[in-house]
Amino acid sequence: MGACGAVGVGVDVGACGAEGCSVEGWGSAWGRWWVGAGAGVSVLGPARNGVSEGVRALTRQSLRADTPAPALPAVRVRRAVPLPAVGVRRVVSVCAVGVRRGPRVHASVGVGGGSERLGGMNETVAPEGAELRARAEIDLAAVRANVRALRERAPGAALMAVVKADGYGHGAVACARAAVEAGATWLGTATPQEALALRAAGLPADVRIMCWLWTPGGPWRQAIEADVDVSLSGMWALREVIAAARLAGRPARVQLKADTGLGRGGCQPGDDWTELVTEALRAQAEGLLRITGLWSHFACADEPGHPSVAAQLARFREMVAYAETRGVEPEVRHIANSPATLTLPESHFDLVRPGIAMYGVSPSPEIGTPADFGLRPVMTLTAALALVKHVPGGHGVSYGHHYVTPGATTLGLVPLGYADGIPRHASSAGPVLVEGKWRTVAGRVAMDQFVVDLGGDEPGPGAEAVLFGPGDHGEPTAEDWAQAAGTIAYEIVTRIGSRVPRVYVNASGE
Ligand SMILES: Cc1ncc(COP(=O)(O)O)c(C=O)c1O
Repeated sequence: MGACGAVGVGVDVGACGAEGCSVEGWGSAWGRWWVGAGAGVSVLGPARNGVSEGVRALTRQSLRADTPAPALPAVRVRRAVPLPAVGVRRVVSVCAVGVRRGPRVHASVGVGGGSERLGGMNETVAPEGAELRARAEIDLAAVRANVRALRERAPGAALMAVVKADGYGHGAVACARAAVEAGATWLGTATPQEALALRAAGLPADVRIMCWLWTPGGPWRQAIEADVDVSLSGMWALREVIAAARLAGRPARVQLKADTGLGRGGCQPGDDWTELVTEALRAQAEGLLRITGLWSHFACADEPGHPSVAAQLARFREMVAYAETRGVEPEVRHIANSPATLTLPESHFDLVRPGIAMYGVSPSPEIGTPADFGLRPVMTLTAALALVKHVPGGHGVSYGHHYVTPGATTLGLVPLGYADGIPRHASSAGPVLVEGKWRTVAGRVAMDQFVVDLGGDEPGPGAEAVLFGPGDHGEPTAEDWAQAAGTIAYEIVTRIGSRVPRVYVNASGE
């Protein structure tokens, strides 16, 4: 550690200068100092006021007006040599990503809690050491591109970006913001708490937010006051929202949900629907609510040709027609999730509600790959090997010894486990890219760690293990993990745990 002890990191994006050579790529420190071939990671020197000053220095340095954009976007630094530490404690990661109009710089500095946003740069301050172990890199440019691609699929409809479950594990607020930048005018969540958190995050006020998973007790009044559209599937919910609207002194925005065949949430057709529509119209006439939407959800839109799809569409049209005949004038009618947005134009109505596709994951390999739809996976999950060691043949590996080394080999310890969302069902099956080769989980996935057989290779502790990503560098995808674990890719990305820091790149719009 240098004399001052402050953290100051920089990525010099200009021509070769005193502080570094031109940046073409992405440098990851993993607890060490790296400067890679073709990439320059420069130390700006001791900063006066600790981290923030150091990061501000980084901003100034990196976003100089006269600096040309890097030639290559997000190329990882593969060959690296240690850079002597100069007045620096530790840097977790530094990356520079070339984009059309100039460099975007992301820096994560491992010095404890808190975070701040600076200009065109998104800084994530992770808990001490967290990013040394593992990180989920979230490419917000990919979110924006995916939302644009989805809007092209449904040109006549508005788009609701579904960001429930913390944006399917990607970070709800960051992904919501990126989706809105790309033209989403609605955001969808399951719980009211998720919706209220989005409203509190300060997104543009004209962005509509809707949530649909209610239980008795609300919080209806907070949702009304936050201008959140609430979904009603039955009379108990209508009664509660009317009471809350009286207390709030303003009308609720309500959307009536029809069960057109999913057999989950939603009001049954027939008498139940008749009563819900009738009573909602009565409350609307009293000024207690406004019926803003009529909507439903598919059961099998990801199974091309499944007969329930046409049946649900027909039922939806009937239930909407009934409500409209009775006098409902909805702002939006909607039923399309990702697979329907991608493959069923007749289901688009006024609004489409894609979730998984905006994160660049195909709803089902049966309907196509992300690339088939012009989508790009948003999350890349990596970890640093915690240990690499030689073992003889016949050595049992991990709990239960379900893997026994077939001969003398090297084992790598990946510091991620089922507490981080790595499925235990992927034991002896999940793929991991280490030093350009696919390795397979050797034996059981444990709570915090699993092992890969490196087949005699010696990448060294700290070497990068890529569990999944877009696949550009030969790494597995979330779909590969889904198949290894006998599940769907939705579950793979959504379950990545809170112990894994999300590191946002390309936060600024193009
Ligand atoms: C009501 C509702 N609409 C839309 C979606 C988005 O679905 P998908 O992720 O398949 O696009 C979901 C997610 O399950 C949902 O529950």
